[in-house]
Amino acid sequence: MRTQVGIVGAGPAGLLLSHLLALRGIDSVVVETRSRAYCEARQRAGVLEDGSVRLLREAGLADRLDRLGLEHGGIYLQFAGERHHVDFRELTGGRTVTVYAQTEVVKDLIAKRVASGGAVHFDVVDTEVDHLTSDQPVLRFTGADGTRHEVGCDAIAGCDGFHGICREAIPPDLLTVRERGYPFAWLGILADVPPSTDELIYAHHPNGFALHSLRSPTVSRLYLQVGPDESVGAWPDDRIWDELQCRFELPGSGWRLKQGPVLDKGITPMRSFVGAPMRYGRLFLAGDAAHIVPPTGAKGLNLAMADVAVLAPALDALLHGDARPADDYSATCLRRVWRSTHFSWWMTSMLHRIPGADDMEAELQLSQLRYVVASRAAATSLAENYTGYPELPAGTNLAR
Ligand code: FAD
Ligand code: DHB
Repeated sequence: MRTQVGIVGAGPAGLLLSHLLALRGIDSVVVETRSRAYCEARQRAGVLEDGSVRLLREAGLADRLDRLGLEHGGIYLQFAGERHHVDFRELTGGRTVTVYAQTEVVKDLIAKRVASGGAVHFDVVDTEVDHLTSDQPVLRFTGADGTRHEVGCDAIAGCDGFHGICREAIPPDLLTVRERGYPFAWLGILADVPPSTDELIYAHHPNGFALHSLRSPTVSRLYLQVGPDESVGAWPDDRIWDELQCRFELPGSGWRLKQGPVLDKGITPMRSFVGAPMRYGRLFLAGDAAHIVPPTGAKGLNLAMADVAVLAPALDALLHGDARPADDYSATCLRRVWRSTHFSWWMTSMLHRIPGADDMEAELQLSQLRYVVASRAAATSLAENYTGYPELPAGTNLAR
């Protein structure tokens, strides 16, 4: 087999890259260890920045997004028994975010690749990347029918997430890693119940952080801060709802969280990680393969999309003899990556209960939260970061 770009991973980064390359007339082969059904059902992120929505629209991927996506003009910050609205539209001159689940983005992308005859191989095993410093890197995998394939490529995109094989293929002395762990995790549930709020609620509470998000007018997505080593088994549905009621309680308001059947339950560890550079020879890393942020602030999916929006034109230029954009790829992406890394760390630090921390820590968090809702400058900073960074490059024209 031969292709121009071998892509490891059919998450949002790999699938979107494959589509953006196809728009430029560049063919690719995507390989994925999981099944199509698994990729389409994996519950993860839910918030798209302004720029991500625009990119999906311009790339012809927004038919369902425009019908089903829920545009939000702000969020609520809740702390010390008060709920405050941060109005993104008013603070940023009209910028918004759109609630549209990663599962739906992935479904849209797979449908588009399949409809246009794109090569996406699910259920592969033993993926290998080789000859990365040559002009003809090689991608090997064993397909679902047991056949071993070797694909000669002009470039390989490592879009295989944090636990993939591509970052590992970079000699350790050539990769600088910056990393921070957090002493807590998120327990996330999907619930078959209409949301109890019109916009997301980020709640600071002495018991720990809680987030009320949503997926549709009839399905809610909720998160609780839990211990880093807790298992889902320790959280029967009743315990989850009791804890959510407690952390979202607004004394005297009459507001109450609506409860319903739990459709999905999972625990997400929290980590900040940046590997640089995001390139080794003809291997280019994108999305979680290169960097991870804690989910507070909803940046992971948006970063993955922003990376490949830069990578597609860079690969196009490389394949046509201009190496400059590919040489700039890592530095260009890392400016946005570090901004989101800082914002996610800041949101995480401000909103979570730090195990073992004293009252001083909690007072500092509360002071910061009060400042964010009282100062227009501070609220604008949160709103600008949350909705995205138009001033940072994220790829431009879709065609050459
Ligand atoms: P992924 O979506 O991880 O896709 C990588 C793909 O590569 C996977 O399909 C994987 O199966 C495949 N793969 C791995 N190894 C191989 C191999 N050797 N060969 C072939 N294929 C391989 N972000 C938010 O903004 N909000 C959230 O609430 C949120 N929740 C999350 C919950 C979890 C459990 C996780 C893991 C992440 C969450 N994120 C969240 C982050 C967000 O979902 C990711 O940033 C986003 O999925 C990144 O997309 P990606 O394409 O880079 O990687
Ligand atoms: C969602 C996840 C997040 O991490 C976040 O900050 C907001 C929303 C969600 O899954 O809907």
